[in-house]
Amino acid sequence: MSETIAPELPGQQADPYFNPLSDEMVADPHPAYHRLRAEAPVYWHEELQAWLLTRFTDCQEVLKDSQTFAADFRRIGIPTPDTLLSLQTLDPPEQTPLRHLGLDTLRAQDLGAFGADLEQLADEEFGKLAERGSFDFVQDFSDRFTLTAMTRLLGVRGPEEDATFHALNKDLDHSMDSGFDPDAEAAGIRARARFNALVESWLANPPEQGVIAYLAEHQAEGKVPVEVVVNSIRAFFHAGFEVPSRFLSNAVHALLRQPEAFDALKAGVETGPAVEELIRFAGPVHALSRACTQDTRIGGTVIKRGDIVVALIGAANRDPEQFADPDTLRLDRTSNHHLSFGRGAHSCLGAMVGRAEAKAVLGALVRHAPNLRAAGPVVQRRNATLRGLYNLPVELG
Ligand code: HEM
Repeated sequence: MSETIAPELPGQQADPYFNPLSDEMVADPHPAYHRLRAEAPVYWHEELQAWLLTRFTDCQEVLKDSQTFAADFRRIGIPTPDTLLSLQTLDPPEQTPLRHLGLDTLRAQDLGAFGADLEQLADEEFGKLAERGSFDFVQDFSDRFTLTAMTRLLGVRGPEEDATFHALNKDLDHSMDSGFDPDAEAAGIRARARFNALVESWLANPPEQGVIAYLAEHQAEGKVPVEVVVNSIRAFFHAGFEVPSRFLSNAVHALLRQPEAFDALKAGVETGPAVEELIRFAGPVHALSRACTQDTRIGGTVIKRGDIVVALIGAANRDPEQFADPDTLRLDRTSNHHLSFGRGAHSCLGAMVGRAEAKAVLGALVRHAPNLRAAGPVVQRRNATLRGLYNLPVELG
């Protein structure tokens, strides 16, 4: 351990490779990821008490093998509160009926019409902001856009008509970003309880269309306990607005920092590959944890039953063995099989929705804000697993 690096938070020791909440890492984790991958690709982190993986192939193998690497920590004897049992925290075979229910629900939606609705929403919002000249991309656009998109997908009243969301978001935000704050856990419990009550009220009095309408009719078919369905809808909702909002702000920030890429977008580069490359390059989810259920090996290193393994997918997405010139944003990159949506039994259920949101926003950006530029200090969230921004001040030029 280096004695010259001061601990950045009470109780935290500086690790020679990986200090997730240090200022340097919050600003840019990729130099540390590259060093770890080159020197210690399967690395035991003493303070986190977990193995860190930075190679694409190792991360991919772990995520695909839910038999050996569990999302359900009860499989190694770590209890999970009932209120956290959901699609995300159960593994196959227990998770399978929920996963099918989720996939069937999304298949039953008219995603084409939803995509067109998103394009209209992005156009309207950007049109209004364009009149102001300058605004905060996160606070004034991406948070509102993704929250409204989710309520429309679910078929429930949006944030404009229902103030509940603002209080909920505050608590959820607080619980996620403040790992060292003693109030954070209480805020999380409070937010989950309130959110579950909201989901129950939706199911009891369902709208005519959308995800909730479908689930109210079909939820009993998988014979999953209703509390687990409710927890899963809450998890779906949260994953569905928070992650895309962070992605959109990271993506626009990346475009502002690599103007050649923004120029390529304006010149009409194909949208599909451009969205995929932005998701690889600026994907907000950087770390996925799994519990090892049986002794195994990763790249020659023995991993014991009960060990925690962290797949650093943010690092895997910049592995030069997998991606040529990985630190460059190349919007026309092909065969871009990144890990930003995960892999296997827990891979992102809403990837199509995330892509549709990105497509809508990139289109609106080119139409309404071709001269967009940074207009003040960018504020990063101090969160190592779900990276994003609090503020991205911009002006339309
Ligand atoms: C660009 C946007 C998005 C990104 C980068 C993203 C990323 C991810 C990742 C990495 C996972 C895997 C978690 C794991 O393996 O433990 C995941 C899971 C999930 N995502 Fe997304 N997501 C996005 C958008 C969405 C949207 C819009 C929705 C809902 C409409 C959604 C719903 C979910 C759900 C329900 C899961 C859990 C699936 C399961 O455990 O079976 N995501 N997402």
